[in-house]
Amino acid sequence: MIRALPPRVRIVEVGPRDGLQNEATPIPTPEKIAFIDALSAAGLPEIEATSFVAPGRIPQLTDAEEVMRGITRRPGCHYTVLVPNEKGLERALAVEVSRIAVFTAASESFNRKNIRASIAESIERYRPVVRGAQAAGLSLRGYVSTAFACPYEGPIAPTAVREVVARLRDLGVEEISLGDTVGVAVPSEVDRLLDALEGTLPLADTALHLHDTRGTALSNVMRGLERGVAIFDASAGGLGGCPYAPGAGGNLATEDLLYLLERLGIETGVDLDRVRHAGDRLESLLGHALPSKVRAAGGALRPQGPIDA
Ligand code: HMG
Ligand code: MG
Repeated sequence: MIRALPPRVRIVEVGPRDGLQNEATPIPTPEKIAFIDALSAAGLPEIEATSFVAPGRIPQLTDAEEVMRGITRRPGCHYTVLVPNEKGLERALAVEVSRIAVFTAASESFNRKNIRASIAESIERYRPVVRGAQAAGLSLRGYVSTAFACPYEGPIAPTAVREVVARLRDLGVEEISLGDTVGVAVPSEVDRLLDALEGTLPLADTALHLHDTRGTALSNVMRGLERGVAIFDASAGGLGGCPYAPGAGGNLATEDLLYLLERLGIETGVDLDRVRHAGDRLESLLGHALPSKVRAAGGALRPQGPIDA
């Protein structure tokens, strides 16, 4: 059912984690800290700052502790970290985090490559993680990757996603982020998935995490908005991808998402130009252009006259 667009959207900035995890050029820790601080200064309400995964698995993010200890925490901004197991939780609890994100998938093949566990094993692995996070007073988000398609298995049935979402919710994970990990979805598939999740996942706890490999992310955001989704993940500059998801392009760029939302009159509390400038230094360190279209266009539209005239 198409309804009025939400008046306000919460953006979960995943650039420092998803954006950097697939970049081969090592980014010095102080640069990551400066990046996160610039993003929080832009008004982002939640930043996924790093991940506490096994060191060899994501070489770019082995400095997770130093990053978390180095950032300046802006009041009102939640700093989330990705955690794959109890060891990751232990590390996260040793630094100050506000939120834990656990991650599994709707496809067995991707899950095995990514976290070396079946879906059922991953749920069992997260049981003590969720309990520990709750005991520490942290809120929880859970990713369901390959919610539309898997790079190894192809299209994924919405019923398979619903099953994993239900298991995470049973564990006590509140917010669920539905991942178009490889960036293949189109709006009719967003519809099908949201239809399948009705009764299992309230809209207030539903986030879309859209990789923009084929340029369909904003169309899918639009469909999500029309369906009442009001939480979207995005990455400053549009960096991103997962080393265990071949063919995945960057995330939907935060600048591109902000531009759409601003022009639709939807509030976010985030300053587009400040997000754009947060990526400037990163672009020169990485030595390649960041993929955001709005960034390439020089930022927000600053029309000389009324554009509707
Ligand atoms: P494993 O490879 O099965 O190995 O890990 P293990 O559990 O036997 O541990 C191997 C070694 O790592 C041991 O050390 C552990 O102690 C250590 P050793 O005894 O050899 O000295 N270890 C750790 N060290 C520090 N922190 C830890 C930790 N865990 C184990 N947390 C595991 C399984 C899940 C941990 C591993 O496979 C892993 O870290 N995978 C993460 C992969 C990853 O980060 N992928 C990208 C993020 S997901 C994503 O991008 C998708 C998303 O964006 C949504 C979307 O787009 O769809 C979220
Ligand atoms: Mg991702």
